[in-house]
Amino acid sequence: MEAALLAWFDAHGRDLPWRRTRDPYAILVSEVMLQQTQVERVVPRYLGWLERWPTVEALAAASPADVIRAWQGLGYNRRGLNLHRAGQQIARDGWPEELTDLPGVGPYTAAAVASFAFERDVLPVDTNVRRVQERTGHAFSPRAGQALMDLGATVCLARIPRCGICPLAETCPSRGSRYEPLRKQSRFDGSFRQRRARALGLVAAAERPLADLDAEAVESLARDGLVEVEGGVVALPGEATIRA
Ligand code: ADE
Repeated sequence: MEAALLAWFDAHGRDLPWRRTRDPYAILVSEVMLQQTQVERVVPRYLGWLERWPTVEALAAASPADVIRAWQGLGYNRRGLNLHRAGQQIARDGWPEELTDLPGVGPYTAAAVASFAFERDVLPVDTNVRRVQERTGHAFSPRAGQALMDLGATVCLARIPRCGICPLAETCPSRGSRYEPLRKQSRFDGSFRQRRARALGLVAAAERPLADLDAEAVESLARDGLVEVEGGVVALPGEATIRA
């Protein structure tokens, strides 16, 4: 089954920029951006990011405010801030043995960096990979990571898998199955996220009086370290104008 998958990947795998590097910093950037943001949206942002901050040292030297601004539109702004913090830790202490010691790096991202950059024998299991594993019932080896991601993203789709073009269909016990729609983010979570994003976007453009902003959203952003509130004025971290 794995041989069929790898042959398919050779012919149909996506040519993605982070697959052309073994630089652990670049791969970390890609994986953090890819958490909950679609590949097509990530590609230009990934390229722009590496142009601006080509090394972990360059990122570490940036201000958190510039990083938050550069992250705008990628969603989940805490991820950007954590990536910056991770960069500072790596620039200071080198790469930790346990990649999950880095801020914002969970077991999946750690496995992805370990596999794609450090060529360690671990299979990064994201939702796409897990779905293919569960449907096929096959234990794929660590070499199959990128291929499983592409199969899950383009063929073995969550709701209506495209079994007709799947290289694994012949031996797949789930061939032809249909699946219920996935549970979406609740309406409440979605709208509060939007309120946070709107408030952060305003503050990223220029510091503003708290009174002009959504106070609840600002409080939540401040708790995450994405904004600072001082003397009734909200600014990006380190950017508050000092008042007499
Ligand atoms: N999603 C998460 N990591 C990915 C990768 N390396 N390639 C494609 N999609 C991904």
